[in-house]
Amino acid sequence: MTAPPQILAVASGKGGVGKTWLAITLAQALTEAGDRVVVLDGDIGLANIDIQLGIAPKHDLAEWATGKTALADIVERTPAGFDVAPGASGSIAMSAMPGAEIARLVGDFHGLAAHYDVGLIDIAAGVEPAQLRLAGAAGRCILVITSDPTSLTDGYAFVKMAQRLKRPPAFQVVVNMADTPASGERAYLSLAKAAKGFLKLDLPLLGVIRRDPAVAAAIRRQTPLLTHAPGAPAALDVIKIAKALQRGGAARAA
Ligand SMILES: Nc1ncnc2c1ncn2[C@@H]1O[C@H](COP(=O)(O)OP(=O)(O)OP(=O)(O)O)[C@@H](O)[C@H]1O
Ligand SMILES: [Mg+2]
Repeated sequence: MTAPPQILAVASGKGGVGKTWLAITLAQALTEAGDRVVVLDGDIGLANIDIQLGIAPKHDLAEWATGKTALADIVERTPAGFDVAPGASGSIAMSAMPGAEIARLVGDFHGLAAHYDVGLIDIAAGVEPAQLRLAGAAGRCILVITSDPTSLTDGYAFVKMAQRLKRPPAFQVVVNMADTPASGERAYLSLAKAAKGFLKLDLPLLGVIRRDPAVAAAIRRQTPLLTHAPGAPAALDVIKIAKALQRGGAARAA
């Protein structure tokens, strides 16, 4: 029997910490390691995935939202080798999506992801019910933080609010834009300590990604990082995270 797909949301609380970039780069790293990967652009009204990849999707979630088009029918192969269910710039807003619609979206995504090894959901910034529900419905959530104190407090708020869900997701933390691996680990430890102390919750560390000028350069060229600069420090850090997830997936399936 084939193993069930790993489905992971990518969330943060604070905006601009690199969620969309991580979802894309992780998807590319997992694809290059042999996984079949699909990414859902859950930042529905802004559709940043197409912009970072430089693609102009033929279909998007606005069509899915009509109820007449299946999620599988809007999916497109990206130049990085993985598939994407594109967001819908401007036409619908996730914050305005009722809970039942979010449940339908994630339910459909679970069905779609059954044809893949990994499904990633890029979630919009914020700690509103829509983001929390999306993370909860995914079941597992990569929480992206930086060493910035506001990112730590917003990340903590996301985890705290998520505990009020009927089924909170299992979190794993990624520290992005770390000046050094050690400073990234310090940021992780202060979050983990707060979660343990106040929420009695263990937050495992998935990985630290270094701040790297190659990231912005690749985004400016609308080219995925592992195509633009596969040996760049941030690329190597994401490849390491992909390997950790693959090991985790294998362990779960065993
Ligand atoms: N490791 C890194 N090193 C340097 N710059 C980075 C790194 N990761 C992300 N960035 C920069 O951060 C910016 C924001 O990234 P991205 O759009 O992926 O964040 P986001 O969390 O999805 O934002 P939003 O909350 O608006 O959706 C990018 O333009 C990129 O240049
Ligand atoms: Mg984003």
